[in-house]
Amino acid sequence: MPDIRVVELFAGVGGFRLGLEAASERYKTIWADQWEPSMREQHAFDCYAAHFGQGENVVCEDIKTAKTKIPAHDLLVGGFPCQDYSIAKKNSEGIEGKKGVLWWQIDDIIKEKRPPYILLENVDRILRSPAKQYGRDFSIILRCLYEKGYAAEWRVINAADYGQGQRRRRTFILAYHKNTELFRELAESVCKKWLKAMHSFVTKESVLAKAFPISGHEKIYTDSWIDEMEYAGISDVSANQRVRLYDSGVMMNARIYSVDVRPQKEAAIPLSAVREKDPVNERYFLKEADMHKWRYAKGAKNELRRKRDGSEYYFTEGSVKFPDPLDGPSRTMLTSESEVGRSSHVIEDCVTGKLRTLTPVECERLNGFPDNWTNTGMPERMRYYCMGNALVVPIVTRIGKALSEVI
Ligand SMILES: C[S@@+](CC[C@H](N)C(=O)[O-])C[C@H]1O[C@@H](n2cnc3c(N)ncnc32)[C@H](O)[C@@H]1O
Repeated sequence: MPDIRVVELFAGVGGFRLGLEAASERYKTIWADQWEPSMREQHAFDCYAAHFGQGENVVCEDIKTAKTKIPAHDLLVGGFPCQDYSIAKKNSEGIEGKKGVLWWQIDDIIKEKRPPYILLENVDRILRSPAKQYGRDFSIILRCLYEKGYAAEWRVINAADYGQGQRRRRTFILAYHKNTELFRELAESVCKKWLKAMHSFVTKESVLAKAFPISGHEKIYTDSWIDEMEYAGISDVSANQRVRLYDSGVMMNARIYSVDVRPQKEAAIPLSAVREKDPVNERYFLKEADMHKWRYAKGAKNELRRKRDGSEYYFTEGSVKFPDPLDGPSRTMLTSESEVGRSSHVIEDCVTGKLRTLTPVECERLNGFPDNWTNTGMPERMRYYCMGNALVVPIVTRIGKALSEVI
């Protein structure tokens, strides 16, 4: 079987590479780029290079300039931020997205390189954003892919539903070019059986459905079915498209079908299994002086607050469990993990029974990275930051396995 040449964008500490290489020896990462815009020190890149080696094919540079060096490849992968993808203006060369919005860098690379397969990752809310024009940003992505000759499938995966230790919900988008067998087969069945074919594809036959089997689906609404051709082009989509996109879907020839699916759940790894069994450093334990901050952050609130303009409003939120229960998976890890705050996990230490934050190794385990993966010389705060940004590696491995069967 031939190699699958992979280009990894926004590589972070290498979640895609680790996940794909565990899926099949055929995946060969031939070029990668990682660059943190606001930092002088490039800790994530250093970690990536420490594991996978440095060289002209492992680049630490803004993708805006690095993209010209990308070699021909079979699979383009990358996790990119949920930003405002709307069209800022039209110039003489056509449309132009807002400055600094990374989707447009990916779009340029696809235009230039036309990789047969593209695998992208984003947060779950990308399907709905922005709130004021529901579904616009994802519609722009689908439209860009369509105009470059791709079909696409997507699925929101909660890692804990498929046997992992974290309830991390991420949208995976897999696109294939019209020269691929995958595209041709889907196009043919959609042509013959239309909506029925799209439904059966999303729920059974797509790569993502094979990687993550479902037990059923929710109701199909009339808005499950969208014809993007009602919009003249990307500028029209950007200005006017407002759609409800469900958690699992397909786009073929600018026709979109989506539906919410019920995962065929696999037992999640409980926090107790991720917790370090040996004594951990004192610094992880909650300090008495901070306890009131922790209790406040985790507690229910119903309080009068003031906006910048001076007007007042009532802020309400429920409590979160404190400490976190050990018999189930963790919540989603953020880049601020371990700082005093509502979203950081607090657990009972295995040895002392005292309350403490997660250690960096526990965070790595929650994402399915090997222990001490980020222990490559970066400050501890950055280890949490990198894990808050990273993927759940075994989820990528499952996609990689299903994909390698059809490439
Ligand atoms: C969501 S994270 C991806 C994490 C990665 N998948 C992993 O498993 O570690 C996005 C990454 O893109 C990088 N990034 C942000 N802006 C960039 C740019 N302009 N050029 C290259 N990389 C950038 C960030 O530093 C961050 O590591």
